[in-house]
Amino acid sequence: MEKREHWKSKFGFILAATGGAIGLGNIWRFPYITGKNGGAAFVLIYIGCCIIVGIPLILAELSLGRRSQRDAVGTFKVVKPGTRWFWIGGMGVATGYLILSYYSVVAGWTIGYFFESLLGTFRKMGSPQAVASYFDTFSASPLKAIGFHGFFIALCMIIVIRGIQGGIERACKLLMPTLLGILLICIIRSITLEGSLAGLSFFIKPDFSKLSTQAIFEALGQSFFTLSLGMGAVITYGSYLTKKDNLASSGVMITFLDTLIAILAGFAIFPAIFAFGLPPDQGPGLVFRSLTNVFNAMPGGVVFAPLFFFLLIIAAVTSGISLLEVITAYFVDERGWSRRKTVLTMGTAAFLLGIPAALSFGRLQGISILGKTPFSFVESLTANYMLPLGGLMISVFVAYIWGRRKAIDEVKVGNPAFITGRIWVFLLRYICPFIVAQILLFGVLSEFTSPRVTSFANTLRSYLSIIDIVIAAGVIIGGAIYIISIKRAKRKEE
Ligand code: PHE
Repeated sequence: MEKREHWKSKFGFILAATGGAIGLGNIWRFPYITGKNGGAAFVLIYIGCCIIVGIPLILAELSLGRRSQRDAVGTFKVVKPGTRWFWIGGMGVATGYLILSYYSVVAGWTIGYFFESLLGTFRKMGSPQAVASYFDTFSASPLKAIGFHGFFIALCMIIVIRGIQGGIERACKLLMPTLLGILLICIIRSITLEGSLAGLSFFIKPDFSKLSTQAIFEALGQSFFTLSLGMGAVITYGSYLTKKDNLASSGVMITFLDTLIAILAGFAIFPAIFAFGLPPDQGPGLVFRSLTNVFNAMPGGVVFAPLFFFLLIIAAVTSGISLLEVITAYFVDERGWSRRKTVLTMGTAAFLLGIPAALSFGRLQGISILGKTPFSFVESLTANYMLPLGGLMISVFVAYIWGRRKAIDEVKVGNPAFITGRIWVFLLRYICPFIVAQILLFGVLSEFTSPRVTSFANTLRSYLSIIDIVIAAGVIIGGAIYIISIKRAKRKEE
């Protein structure tokens, strides 16, 4: 077996891990799912999921990975040898495959838009509507869709073959900060457009009457997707950490930065969408339709447009490689394959698997799997079902099977002052599984249209909402007591 590499520096890890988390999930998926689900109220639920479920789970995955120094499947074998829990990791690897297959389709659009903006395609178009509808023509072309999809996977393969320090870490260090800068420029232009106010209020003024069960379901899925949770990506990255690293602060930092970028993307996109009179609920093309118009309306847009799409490609690459790395680590650690062989075969397999998704906006548009195109079907299956289910199982595993003592001990390594351990385990034991199971259940029920199922769901909801209120009150009171006790302890120390 090849010797296990580690991250070179703490900063390098944070950037690689946030690079893995920040990607199309923030800039492409978050705005379009928010637009589809009515705006601000959805955003609040999403942020709530990131804090209450996301942070504890990131920490759970990081500690599992660092403890075992193995891949997503091997972790469970190391921590609980002789049991079948490693199937959680197996499901994670499968989920990674499926996500990579359509992720690279969207990343391919980004590459295409980079070239188009370089060629000035959008500048030449007359109206904002024409610019927006170019997305339909573009994504329907099989040559472009499949070609750029393949191009992207090839890019990820080259980096992953080179390994941890030389490939992944080096790429992220340079590129993530630049992305933040260009996003800020887009925000300034977007909110200074005439008519942008309606978009701002759509994004920040919550209207809870618009919030459906489906929206809550998708908010949970989005929080898992954007934080790369529930499939062992964070376990895998954690496995390249050493005992010196502070897991708790890394987990909070990753969540914070990831959420920040998503919110910034929202501020860049929604004001523009409304200013150009485009509908916010237009699905996966939203970013491509809106930002091209923002660039057209901005001095220097000729430069900023290709630069932005270039950075979006980078953001996608840093996440794409984390998906491919989960698969690679599994074959290298568990099957003894060489890195090179794994990347070449698995990358090609993901490319082939993604072809139906690539054709979903053209040739295969009419094909329906349970009422969805192949693209939306795989996207919803992975983000809304597989990731939350994986997360549910990981939280149960860490809190009950691995056991609270051992888990807390692991997190304490590299962070002796880990006083939050109890709260963390409490959330993992009682809150995360309950919330995730509940949202999953209602999400599944809401896919059925039969009146019987609906009335059953409504009755169930009225009972569960009482428990929810008790839990929410408990979390708020518990949080307040906790903060006060930390302050007291600090004062005593002084
Ligand atoms: N979090 C990544 C993004 O926001 C996508 C991703 C999901 C990566 C799951 C790895 C695992 O783009």
